[in-house]
Amino acid sequence: MTDDLSAHQESPFRTSLLEEADGAGSNPTLNPTMGELISIRFSRRGLLRGALAVSAIAATVGPVALMSAGKAQAASDGAGSASDSAFSFVEVEAGVDETHHVAEGYDAEVLLRWGDPLFADSPEFDPTNQTAEAQRRQFGYNNDYVGFIPLDGSSEHGLLVVNHEYTNEHLMFPGIVSVAEGKLKVAPADKARVDIEMAAHGGTVVEIRKVAGTWQVVREGKLNRRITATTPMQITGPAAGSERLKTAEDATGTRVIGTLNNCAGGVTPWGTYVMAEENFHGYFLGTLPEGNKEAANYKRYGVPEASYEWGNVYDRFDLAKEPNEPNRFGWIVEVDVNDPNSVPKKRTALGRFKHEGAESIVAKDGRVVFYLGDDERFDYVYKFVTSGTFNPNDRAANMDLLDSGTLYVAKFDADGALEWLPLVFGQGSLTAANGFDSQADVLIETRRAADLLGATKMDRPEDVQPNGVNGKVYVMLTNNTRRKDDQVDAANPRAKNAFGHIIEIAEADGDFAATNGRWEVLLKCGDPSVAAVGATFSTDTTRNGWFGMPDNCAVDSAGRLWVSTDGNNPKDTGRTDGLWAVDTEGGARATSKLFFRVPVGAEMCGPLFTPDDRTAFVAVQHPGDGGTDWAPFGRPSYYEDLSTRWPDFKDDMPVRPAVVVITKKDGGTIGS
Ligand code: FEO
Ligand code: CA
Ligand code: CA
Repeated sequence: MTDDLSAHQESPFRTSLLEEADGAGSNPTLNPTMGELISIRFSRRGLLRGALAVSAIAATVGPVALMSAGKAQAASDGAGSASDSAFSFVEVEAGVDETHHVAEGYDAEVLLRWGDPLFADSPEFDPTNQTAEAQRRQFGYNNDYVGFIPLDGSSEHGLLVVNHEYTNEHLMFPGIVSVAEGKLKVAPADKARVDIEMAAHGGTVVEIRKVAGTWQVVREGKLNRRITATTPMQITGPAAGSERLKTAEDATGTRVIGTLNNCAGGVTPWGTYVMAEENFHGYFLGTLPEGNKEAANYKRYGVPEASYEWGNVYDRFDLAKEPNEPNRFGWIVEVDVNDPNSVPKKRTALGRFKHEGAESIVAKDGRVVFYLGDDERFDYVYKFVTSGTFNPNDRAANMDLLDSGTLYVAKFDADGALEWLPLVFGQGSLTAANGFDSQADVLIETRRAADLLGATKMDRPEDVQPNGVNGKVYVMLTNNTRRKDDQVDAANPRAKNAFGHIIEIAEADGDFAATNGRWEVLLKCGDPSVAAVGATFSTDTTRNGWFGMPDNCAVDSAGRLWVSTDGNNPKDTGRTDGLWAVDTEGGARATSKLFFRVPVGAEMCGPLFTPDDRTAFVAVQHPGDGGTDWAPFGRPSYYEDLSTRWPDFKDDMPVRPAVVVITKKDGGTIGS
């Protein structure tokens, strides 16, 4: 701890800085909102604007949206029935305390914690003597996406792939925090600390196996690997080699060091691991040289945010010294997990934005479709369709499928139609007249290209998950309290949307590669007992069963939807984040039940099921963060004074983000 508070960084909470902050990356364009469009349309026909027009929107978009128009608590025609539910577990009581809770009849065991050794020669975790060298051989911080790649087709032996999104220094490092007027101040980072932070970012690939009923980490696993913010990577696809990607260290524009802020992700049908680079803007500081042509591009992405101090140690994170470096982040990264020495590839064909995830499915004709969210208020939902087709019998033939294809952005029309607009250089307004000289330019400035096409501005798109069983696609829209009354539209139907909603897409002809489809709102989230919230859970949803802020999600092999949340806390929802089971079919549609809840301060990431649905993995991210919301503390939470010491509960061990493995005590299917 130092005395120089003026030099300290205020408000070190990365989640609030990078995900909640309304940075300059917010969409400044004048695309009309759906409300404006419908208002124009109806005024042309001599009808009324305003409230009547909004009712008219609702009336055109199907029963789920209709019932939410101004109603406090709408149920599915009042017909929701618990007996129709696809889930039969007894739900957890919502609330908040120091630990995690799972439904009765289930075990929830910690499998991997920050600092756990991943290799036979890894040092044991010592939080008071951490080094970058040790961290590179240990599980990273703030686990987010979790994927499982079976070995030999097994649901009890495979590779667990886990993203490490960001670091919370005030929870990680002893002796760097002071408290003044109830706020934390964190001492400036030196090189040693920056190097640990960089080593705690990225991802983990680790072999795991169920032995005598218990999941274990195989430290001797030959495919075990850490990927960090310093792992060499290749840039591939249409933007590779662009002048705008060239730097002093890389004159080719094809080689980059590391990956940043890996939020959600996916596992491809050919068994590679894809990592989504989300809030990359936070890692850059400094000022662009006068007249640099990237100024408008960077403004649209909120670069620089200067949340981290890496640019004080490494020139490439300082815009004044390396102005092109931010163009080398914000991509989807593909990792061949079968070779621990493979060079990860940044696949530029999938666009550059604050990528949340990259869940995929094989379309009818064998092309592969990736659904992508850009997590920022008023940004967009995308999908990428490969040019080539998936060959299930030849893994090598699939390894560059992600380098060619079409990136589309979604336009949610007020009448329930969905249009996928192609982001292709030379088509529509994506021409030299608008500053695009190549497909590389379109991809580097994906957001601006989508602005020009008139995409629909959404309430922070997070995970977008295709469901191969019912043929639908689920879009998690986490919240957007900055949407004003005159910006409400059919697909984002609430102003000051504090609790988020879920949209269900049906692609045309059940073809995931289709360029159009239909959509409706599955669920408007929040407390249904508070009329002003306008939540639309079914009436069978209990006080424990509702949630706010949907973020990650998973579909199990039976096609059932599981939703995890980010942002519930006692202050606004009286509950921690957790994992909820959400019915989508029949009379139980829009019924939700709480299955697992996290310790105080955490968000719930990752939900993932093994192919046999007998194991679920969940990632507990940033436990113990922001402890001021929990009554027993009522003050900031940091290394020396934590709101919880989950999961070890030892005085000499800090709180640790961890992956938890859930099994049913009788060995049966999760949730049934
Ligand atoms: Fe990193 Fe959008 O959550
Ligand atoms: Ca997320
Ligand atoms: Ca989140």
